[in-house]
Formats: sequence, C-alpha cells, structure tokens
Amino acid sequence: MNRRHLIAAGALAALAGIAPAAAQTYPTRPITMIIPFAAGGPTDVVGRIVAEAMSKSLGQTVVIENVAGAGGTTGSNRLTQLQPDGYSIMIGHTGTHAASVALYPNLRYNPVSDFAQIGLVNTNAILITAKKALPANTLAEFVTWLKANERTANNAHAGIGSVSHTTCLLLHATIGVRPQSVPYRGTGPAMNDLVAGQVDYLCDQVVNVAPQVRAGTIKAFAVAQASRNSALPDVPTTTEAGLPAYQVVVWNAMLAPKGTPEPIVARLNEALRAALADANVKARLAELGADLPADNLVTPAGLRSFLEAEIAKWTPVIKAAGVTAGN
Ligand code: MLT
Repeated sequence: MNRRHLIAAGALAALAGIAPAAAQTYPTRPITMIIPFAAGGPTDVVGRIVAEAMSKSLGQTVVIENVAGAGGTTGSNRLTQLQPDGYSIMIGHTGTHAASVALYPNLRYNPVSDFAQIGLVNTNAILITAKKALPANTLAEFVTWLKANERTANNAHAGIGSVSHTTCLLLHATIGVRPQSVPYRGTGPAMNDLVAGQVDYLCDQVVNVAPQVRAGTIKAFAVAQASRNSALPDVPTTTEAGLPAYQVVVWNAMLAPKGTPEPIVARLNEALRAALADANVKARLAELGADLPADNLVTPAGLRSFLEAEIAKWTPVIKAAGVTAGN
C-alpha cells in the first residue's frame, strides 16, 4: 500500500467513525512538529517554546523536525503528504501560508484547503537590522547608504517567500532599490552571519532580533509597526524614523494535514490554548517581543478565515510591489 492509499485509508477510517475512538486515547506516542526553517531562527524558537508546553498538557513529547528549504514551502509541502492522524503538525507563517501564493506561481499546496487549521500562535513585529560595522546609525542614514550602495549591498534572508525575504522586498519597493539577495535556510543562520559581519542587513522578526540588539552585536534601525515593541523600547517605529509607509506585522500558525479528525484537531487546539495561557510561555514570548493573538484566532475556524484574509491582503501588496520569486 503506497502513501496515497494509506492517506485514503485514514480518511475512510475517519468517516467510518474509527477516529472518535482513536481521539479518546490520543496521543499515545510522540508528535512531530515540522519547523520549515533552520534551527535557531524565529519559527524554531517560537515552535520550541510552544512544543515544550504542549508536551506537558498532551502527556507526549512534541518533537521538533526542521525541514528547511524554498522559503519554508518545502516543509509545508512535506506536511501535506503525511498521515492526517494527529502525529504530524507544523508551524507555518505569513510567508508559507499567505505570501507564498502570490510569490510562487507553481506552489504545490493550497495554504488553506490542504491543511487542518489548529490556531494562530503569535504575531511578530519586523525590524530593519544591520551588521554593527554598517556606516549608518539611523533609518534615514541606512536608506541613504542603501541607495548609494545598491549594487553591492547584501540583504540576507531565509529564502524566496520567507518573511525576511518578503518584508525586505517591500522595504526595497518602498524606497526604490534592488540590492543583492543572499538566501539562507532560515534567519537563525542568516543572523549568525549578520553578527559576524558577512552580510549587510536583514529584515527579521523581533524574536530573532531582540537578544542580539540587547547584546549589542547588531544594529536595529526601526520597528515596522505603529507602536514601539516592549522588548526593544529604545528602537523607534518606522513612522518615528521617517518611513511611515513601511508597516508590516507577521504571524505564526499551527497546522495539521487536511483530513486530521476533528476531535484530534480539537485536542491539539486545547493544548495550544493551554500553552499560550501558561505563565512561563507568556513570559518567554514577552521577553522576545512576540505578541499573543486574539482568542478568536486561536481556533480552527478563526485561523481558517484569518488565512483567507491574509492571502487576500498579501496578494495585491506583493503584485503592486512588482515582487516575484525571482527578484
Ligand atoms: C523567515 O524569514 O521567514 C523566518 O525568519 C525564517 C526562520 O524562522 O528562520
């Protein structure tokens, strides 16, 4: 029996009412959580914090598997091919489950209908950061530097369609430049090279940026949202720094393969909500600058509508910016 047959058999079993019985004892073994980027980056950090708390409430270990590549679309596609039995879940984000639709003409999955939504996990501010030695200390100076060094400036990111890629492309469209692009398998390794001074700048999520800015190993010019981030209160907003047109907030979402039985999705949702209500999880996410979502988005139906709205929001933004997977 090949994988397709197994998936079909699983779906038939669910229809035949076997799933509710399985859901009563679920989970009986470890659950794999796919992180579609390299270890050490923002998706991985948030995923590990939440997985640890979920392991406690589920009574089974949630094991992280990093499946990096193609801006997170490789890991997302992998999940769609796994058994919808509750033992495979993932953390997706604005790139893998919204921006990818406009960026990848041949995306191999539908970010909404090929998944069972579990719930939104968090939202993250984006910061414009640079290596310490970059000769600019404010956003205005950085923009001037970038315009003057457009041909040689190196923009690190986590692959085509990743959040770091898309958000810096929007920054480039806002200020009218097209610098060099340096893809990594996640912004964990990209951040390492930024700290080492091997690349010039990175648009990254606050959870990956805050520890480095506090340690003084990189510069942060601005946070691209309406108000300052509590984890980095000294970093101005893009509006304060003179670039009000550049505003972007991103998110992480928890998903399972399409066809995962509803009672199992409900159990995973319950464990996610317990994790987000856990005082230790709240403190760790707050220290990293991540924001918790509204309760109505930490539900399968709420996340599904949210994803549809985010795809509708990002598609024209990306098209208007003239951005494709090739630039
Ligand atoms: C992204 O840029 O999409 C993420 O930062 C990737 C990651 O989690 O490493």
